[in-house]
Amino acid sequence: MDLRSYLNERTDRVNAALHRHLPGPNVRPTTLHRAMRYAVFSGGKRLRPVLCLAAAEACGGDVEDAMPAACALELIHTYSLVHDDLPAMDDDTMRRGRATCHVVFGEAVAVLCGDALLTTSFAALAAARPTPRHSVADMISELARAGGSRHMIGGQMLDLEAESQPANRAALRRIHEAKTAALLTAALRLGAMSANATPRALDALTAFGRALGLAFQVIDDILDETATSEELGKTAGKDAAAAKATYPAVIGLDAARREAARLTRAAHKALEPIARKRAARLHEIADHLLARKY
Ligand code: IPE
Ligand code: IPE
Ligand code: MG
Ligand code: MG
Ligand code: MG
Repeated sequence: MDLRSYLNERTDRVNAALHRHLPGPNVRPTTLHRAMRYAVFSGGKRLRPVLCLAAAEACGGDVEDAMPAACALELIHTYSLVHDDLPAMDDDTMRRGRATCHVVFGEAVAVLCGDALLTTSFAALAAARPTPRHSVADMISELARAGGSRHMIGGQMLDLEAESQPANRAALRRIHEAKTAALLTAALRLGAMSANATPRALDALTAFGRALGLAFQVIDDILDETATSEELGKTAGKDAAAAKATYPAVIGLDAARREAARLTRAAHKALEPIARKRAARLHEIADHLLARKY
């Protein structure tokens, strides 16, 4: 199967599972449940669930066993986007090709929608099955750590603080590792854990996630500067306007492109302990993300 068909197949399966984790649009309070569904079913790339499922396969596991974790990852990611777009944060009006949650439902509903997606994420993960090496409590603490104040939310905090105080390269890397790479790393680790990964495989996927996750945010920064809003499905050029700490702003566009390519090479190398055949999709996804246009 070519990569495009593979990604489409995975997206369809993840979407079907996500429907089962979210209350229907007619369940009260209907406005809240409609807002949650609006934010989730809006054509995101589903990268975190795809990585989670691919990591499970790379460890010889069954995709369905990784599905609760895959859904949990997309739910926590979507919550982070709903809150990231709020007027008090990045103040964005467009996301995934349509109006942001707070534009459609109002700011208060968007705050509650994010809160509810976050708790639903942990409810989804609690439905995972333990494996001999990894308990469900281990999986839950993995997601809590990656999504918490030392990682994703901590990164969002540093990102806001850097708007008023220019970041150097080391600080920029810390922001990007925290706000983005940590959750991508957790996606790979949770997929591996649901497949009873050995410590060696788990370490390899962790190193892969760190490099790929950082590359992913560097590319997001580059695209904010070089792509159009139509291509991105979100407003382009917002980072420069808000004086965000981004790779193009701190090291320049060409150096940022070289850095993304270097990190992608590091990601490939990190996968070496895993048999090439089993890890083939992860290698393909890494190249696909480097070349992405949105
Ligand atoms: C956007 O993530 C936010 C970042 C961490 C860069 P994605 O680019 O994965 O967004 P969707 O899920 O495809 O909309
Ligand atoms: C968002 O980073 C990171 C999180 C939501 C945790 P950005 O602010 O760069 O994401 P976009 O560009 O709005 O998607
Ligand atoms: Mg932001
Ligand atoms: Mg943003
Ligand atoms: Mg961005």
